[in-house]
Amino acid sequence: MADKVDLKRRRLIQAAGVGAASLAAFPAFPIILKRQAGRKVARPPSGTFSPDVEIDLVAGVSRVPILKGQPTSVWRYSAKVTKGDPGAVIPLQNTYLGPILKFKTGQRVRITLKNQLPEQHITHWHGLHSPFEADGHPSYAIRPGQEYVYEFEVKNQAGTNWYHPHTNMLTGSQAYAGLAGLIIVEDKQEQGLPLPRGEFDVPLVIQDRTFNERNQFLYDRRGPIAMLGFLGERILVNGQPDFTMQVASRAYRFRVLNGSNSRLYKLAWSDHSPVTVIATDGALLEKPVTRPYIMIGPGQRVEIWRDFSKPGVGKEITLESLEFEGTMPPGYEQQMRGRRAMGGRGGMGAMGRGMGMMGGRGRMGMGPLAVMANHIPQGSAFTIARFHVTRKAKDNLELPKQLYSRPLYRLEDTVNPDHPRPIAIGTKGRHFTLNGKVFEMLGALDVETIPVNTIQLMEIFHAHGMEHEGEENEKQEEGSMSMQGGMRGMGGMGGMGGMGGMGGGGMMMSMVHPIHLHGPYFQIVKRTPPREGHGLGYDTVKDGFINEGLHDTVLAMPDERITLIKPFTDYKGLFLYHCHNLEHEDAEMMRNFKVV
Ligand code: C2O
Ligand code: CU
Ligand code: CU
Repeated sequence: MADKVDLKRRRLIQAAGVGAASLAAFPAFPIILKRQAGRKVARPPSGTFSPDVEIDLVAGVSRVPILKGQPTSVWRYSAKVTKGDPGAVIPLQNTYLGPILKFKTGQRVRITLKNQLPEQHITHWHGLHSPFEADGHPSYAIRPGQEYVYEFEVKNQAGTNWYHPHTNMLTGSQAYAGLAGLIIVEDKQEQGLPLPRGEFDVPLVIQDRTFNERNQFLYDRRGPIAMLGFLGERILVNGQPDFTMQVASRAYRFRVLNGSNSRLYKLAWSDHSPVTVIATDGALLEKPVTRPYIMIGPGQRVEIWRDFSKPGVGKEITLESLEFEGTMPPGYEQQMRGRRAMGGRGGMGAMGRGMGMMGGRGRMGMGPLAVMANHIPQGSAFTIARFHVTRKAKDNLELPKQLYSRPLYRLEDTVNPDHPRPIAIGTKGRHFTLNGKVFEMLGALDVETIPVNTIQLMEIFHAHGMEHEGEENEKQEEGSMSMQGGMRGMGGMGGMGGMGGMGGGGMMMSMVHPIHLHGPYFQIVKRTPPREGHGLGYDTVKDGFINEGLHDTVLAMPDERITLIKPFTDYKGLFLYHCHNLEHEDAEMMRNFKVV
């Protein structure tokens, strides 16, 4: 019975087209919503669940100082423990980031989310394996003033996860406004490892933002931004610009989260020492791996071990993002080079002017793309964080040879070793699609319907050009505001000469997608590189992938094919899979797995 009521409620929300009208011109302008009558507690406690920890989590409006001068209006999570271990919430000062939620494997958690935002909202625990009703599915979005009670047992092993909004079509704008926080899970096995702890265990949440001259966040996802993704002008770490930290000459554990809407980072150390990775997404590796650099896409986490005893006291080491290519639609990189040649990103380069004209107004007019006029191009080099080694450490740790032991999945464990389930990335008109479709709130195809407690072989691949060409072309002619039209417009102003000759629309829209699967982590079986002539720039990223370990998000480079093993255990219901480029997600590059 309860189920039926819920379903009806969700259908209503769906019918109302939540969020469709508010194209995220937030946060500078409050959105006025009609207050509809409704229960205050949209989802009450079950009555049968006995929590070890209870937390009140508020998503609300706040102001924090970020740049010199005026504080920035943000949306921010705040939390307090109302029952159980007070250490479950670690508040952070001077940042828009939400407090760190710290859980232990096996703990039963009840979280009451209070929506004090001026619009619909629902929160998702990215990386946690929780029941459908506690996963933050957009069909459960609550109105301003309402509450939603999540109840789940922490099934995850030790690792670094995060929480963020998952509101239909508003995830990007709400996360950008500041709504994000880390979730750290601890367990016995991890606690027994000789890993850096306390002040030597440091989160690094990397995000990019653009500020207006009054220090307020600028955001837009209309027009071509829906395809490119939003890219900002400043890199923030833990919510701070020009992040600098004083460290001791010893080993640190950095929990890196790429909390950006669409930017990728190519992480490397300034002293050229290899990057040592001890965990991918929310799971420790079996043993550490090293790479010359690490590619990290939106939504992904990586835990890095760094010993500052080399170079030692008095030195500065920086965490860099190195140059890379080939992750953006064809034409983008020439365009950016053109912009640089015409005055760099300080001034109004070619793209800036182009964007201004496209928007019809200047940057202050919030025309589409005007807010990206001076963005740091995807793939250009910059410094992320600085570490000054200022003191000699009393002791140090040796990098363990063995980390976390757990059995690996084998092909034989899957129910479909010869017929992987497809996750086909494609395009239809101005949308990126998954398995040929855009998001349907409660819908799932046959290939998306999965029996509970099965382990599935899956394959992510690009199916550009395999769609019904007619349909696609028709949509493309729709008008100048379509992505295609927009890109053509930009080309006209900045010399994207080659774009016309790039073949069909599908090919023209080929770019990287960080594909995220809700539910239990998956294991990467194999990465099939792009075919000859299809993967320009692949060489600049390929040594930064980590196939080892467990993942919930994987970067699918243009024309790349990724084979993975994914369990669907414990819970029935709808579990999302989507692109974690949040502008793509909000442009409906999202689908449900219906676990039955
Ligand atoms: Cu981090 Cu479905 O999202
Ligand atoms: Cu998730
Ligand atoms: Cu995408």
